[in-house]
Amino acid sequence: MPESALADGPVVLVGCGRLGAAILEGWLLTGAVAPSDLMILSPSRKPAAEAARAKGARVNPPLEALTAARAVVLAVKPALWRQVMAPLTPFLHDQAVIVSVMAGVTAPTLAEGLGGWPIVRVMPTTGVARGRGVASVWAADAAARALGRALFEPMAETVDLADEDLMDAATAVAGSGAAYFYAFTQALAEAGAKAGLDAATAETLARATLKSAADAMGDEALDALIARIASPGGSTRAGLESMQSDGRLTAMLEDTVAAAVRRNREMGA
Ligand SMILES: NC(=O)c1ccc[n+]([C@@H]2O[C@H](COP(=O)([O-])OP(=O)(O)OC[C@H]3O[C@@H](n4cnc5c(N)ncnc54)[C@H](OP(=O)(O)O)[C@@H]3O)[C@@H](O)[C@H]2O)c1
Repeated sequence: MPESALADGPVVLVGCGRLGAAILEGWLLTGAVAPSDLMILSPSRKPAAEAARAKGARVNPPLEALTAARAVVLAVKPALWRQVMAPLTPFLHDQAVIVSVMAGVTAPTLAEGLGGWPIVRVMPTTGVARGRGVASVWAADAAARALGRALFEPMAETVDLADEDLMDAATAVAGSGAAYFYAFTQALAEAGAKAGLDAATAETLARATLKSAADAMGDEALDALIARIASPGGSTRAGLESMQSDGRLTAMLEDTVAAAVRRNREMGA
């Protein structure tokens, strides 16, 4: 096969679980990958794969078909990738790019287990399913990085990481951040209840307020967004000053992110 064919060749998705299905849905929603360019490998029947099949994707094609693939997106559990990839690698074109979305499996580990394929690591959130995800990208190889970006940019705010080690920090912020936000919402509701609201009303107010704040955030500077609500001498300013007294909010989030980074490193070791 001529090398140039790979530039527009098919993309293989290996694994259609929680993240794999979200990626597939995002590609179909945004058109980032045409269904006719998609091959999906999945041991069990998955609704997302069936939806893609109905639009022209191939599900579990004969392994010979993988030879045309320009990218192989590896979305299986980190403990399984070696056994999953072993039967596939004899069929891959030597110019194909391995796109790993697995947490904690480093590029040197992948290269040692797979061989010489260019590797790009991408850490996406499941928000890609709605075309509104976040993805951190790292690759030593510029062409592999460009391919990783091209696959995720249409459905995610995509950032390049300068160093592979930063993947753990990016995961601690972006991968875990939604859970921190939900925990903050819960704590705000509990604080509202402590201030006298009934629990259900406090939760409705906290949820609705933070949803609407997230919608309104856009790209404006965070200081400007805060200043618009917290006028000097007002009640919001009093609340913020309490929240940040002795830098406690910043310190708490530094500890939170550091704990998640540590855990990411332990799991990848
Ligand atoms: N979930 C997230 O939010 C998230 C975020 C960032 C990164 N990740 C990474 O994404 C990867 C997948 O996570 P997940 O949450 O999507 O896990 P998951 O829901 O368990 O999905 C893994 C999928 O791999 C499939 N699989 C197993 N053996 C296979 C094979 N031989 N060929 C093809 N597929 C095979 C499984 O299929 P069956 O269901 O048929 O067994 C399963 O659906 C992990 O490495 C994780 O670190 C996940």
